[in-house]
Amino acid sequence: MSENLIKESTCAINKATQILNRGGLVSVKAETVYGLACDPSNPEAILKLYNLKNRPSSNPLIIHVNSLEMLKEIAEVNTIASSIINFFWPGPLTLILPRKKNKKVLDFAVAGLNTIAVRMPSSEIFLKLINKFGKPVAAPSANQSGYISSTKASHVIESFGEDIELVIDSGQSEYGLESTIIDLSSEKILIRRLGVIDKKLLEKKIETKIYEQNEPKKNNPNSPGQSFKHYSPNTPIKLNVKNPGEDDAFLGFGSIRLNHKPFLNLSENGDLNEAAFNLFHFLRKLDKLKKKKISIYPIPKKGIGKVINERLNRAKVNE
Ligand code: TXA
Ligand code: MG
Repeated sequence: MSENLIKESTCAINKATQILNRGGLVSVKAETVYGLACDPSNPEAILKLYNLKNRPSSNPLIIHVNSLEMLKEIAEVNTIASSIINFFWPGPLTLILPRKKNKKVLDFAVAGLNTIAVRMPSSEIFLKLINKFGKPVAAPSANQSGYISSTKASHVIESFGEDIELVIDSGQSEYGLESTIIDLSSEKILIRRLGVIDKKLLEKKIETKIYEQNEPKKNNPNSPGQSFKHYSPNTPIKLNVKNPGEDDAFLGFGSIRLNHKPFLNLSENGDLNEAAFNLFHFLRKLDKLKKKKISIYPIPKKGIGKVINERLNRAKVNE
C-alpha cells in the first residue's frame, strides 16, 4: 500500500490543505472523476502539475470554487450564468465565463486566456477541501495527459505513484465521466464538452437554445484541450465489435453473453449510467493485460450513451 494514499477524514483534509499551501499536489475525488488539485495562484505548483501530467501549457485548467462569492473574484457572472448556476451547482457542469484577471488565478493556470472555466463540485470531500483551503482550487483530471481518466484512488496511484504528495481515497467517482463544459463567453451558448448534464436538460431549464460544438479539429486553438487525443489506453481500441478476435480483450454491454476471455461487461442490465460509472475502470483493467486490441461492443447512442461513444471515439484516435 502506498504511503501517500489515505482514506478520507478530517486529518486527510488538513494534510491536503497544508500541501496545497506549500505548493504541492493532492488528488481528491470529484463526483465526475478524480482531480489533481493545486493552488492556481502559485506558479511553482502549476508548473509541477503541468510537468507531472505532461500537459501542454496551452491547455487551461478548470478552477473549482465553493461559493458565488469566490466565483465572482475570478469571473464575470451575468444573468444567464446566474440562472444556470442556480439550477445546476453544485454539480457536474463547468462554465466558461469572461475572466477577471488577478493574482488569485495566474495566467499560467489558464493559458493566458480572457476566459476561465469554473465549476462548483458536488463531491463533499472536494468541497471540504476548498472550504478549508479558502481559495479557488485548480484541478484537471488525475491522469497522464491523453490517457484514461481516473475514477478510483488506485488509478491515480497507478498513474503517478509517489510523485503526488497525497491521494485521498473516497471510493469511486459517482458518475465516472468528466463534467459537461458550456461556453457562456460569447453570444451563442456552446457545449464544448459533452458530459453528464445534456443539452436537452440545459435548454429546458434555461429556456434558451444551446449549440453543440462541431467535431474537434486537430489543433484548433478555439477549443483548447479538445484538439488532442484523449482518454486513450495504450492498447489500440476498436468500436462496434460484435464478435471479438480470439486474442482481443473484449468490453461488452447489455445482454451479450460470450465465452470469451478476457471479457468485461459495462452493464449486464443495459444500464447506461452503470456503463459510464464502469467505463474508465474497465478500460484501465483491460489495458493492463497488454493485448493487441481492446474490442468494444456497440453502446447505444442515447442519453449518457452519447457521451460514452464520444469519449471512445476520441480514445481511438491514433496520433
Ligand atoms: O469533471 C471535471 O471537469 C474534472 C474534475 C476534476 O473537476 N476536471 C477535468 O479537467 O476534466 P480537465 O483539465 O481534464 O479538462 C478540462 C477541459 C480541458 O479540455 C480544457 O481545455 C478545457 O476544460 N478548458 C479549460 N479552460 C477553458 C477555456 N477557458 N476555454 C475553453 N476550454 C477550456
Ligand atoms: Mg482530462
